[in-house]
Amino acid sequence: MTELKIGAIASGSGSNLESIIKSCKTGILKNKASVEILICNKIGAFCMERAKNHNIPYELIESNKYLHLPREDYDKKMIEVFRKYSCELIVLVGYMRLVSGMFIEAFNGNVMNIHPALLPSFKGMHAHRDVLDYGVKVSGCTVHFVDNQSDHGPIIIQKCVPVYDTDNEDTLGSRVLEWEHKIFPKAIELFCNKRLQIKERLVIIDGEFDL
Ligand code: GRF
Repeated sequence: MTELKIGAIASGSGSNLESIIKSCKTGILKNKASVEILICNKIGAFCMERAKNHNIPYELIESNKYLHLPREDYDKKMIEVFRKYSCELIVLVGYMRLVSGMFIEAFNGNVMNIHPALLPSFKGMHAHRDVLDYGVKVSGCTVHFVDNQSDHGPIIIQKCVPVYDTDNEDTLGSRVLEWEHKIFPKAIELFCNKRLQIKERLVIIDGEFDL
């Protein structure tokens, strides 16, 4: 079986990137997938250090320099890079921007995102803060295919975690993050094994799976 070539986009710390890299090297994605390239849009973001430490190539394409231009201009740059590395699946691992319809089409819809809440609740950049402000008793994380709306495409895997009265954004965030690091590699594994079928909004998973 040939390994699935993954391209990653990140803006921040890159702990999800690292969990996927490690799964490819020694975990559930071993011999199934490999991270070929990271694109980072933020100068100084730690995700690039993580890529470097694992000998994964990375390119910094500063989105700040494209703010006055249509989103497609930035996305074209990314497509060029990902094509150079023959990427078949793109993972958004803490990428704090939208991608265009053109970008999604360029990869036949094979673009996944992780969100640190149970979608469709608590979309957006401050999920943990919003969860705590609202007072819900469970939160969690979601891996989904990306469409042209923010935190919106067909859901692949979700995992619940409890929210405690004593929680703050950090304690809740790290409880959720622990599961993010499991469900994203699992979603990629299901994709590699061709067990995902999309019917409109519904992702049908062939058979059962454990986390
Ligand atoms: C994660 O919580 C992810 O769900 C969200 O941004 C955060 C990125 O964390 N989209 P990291 O950079 O992977 O550590």
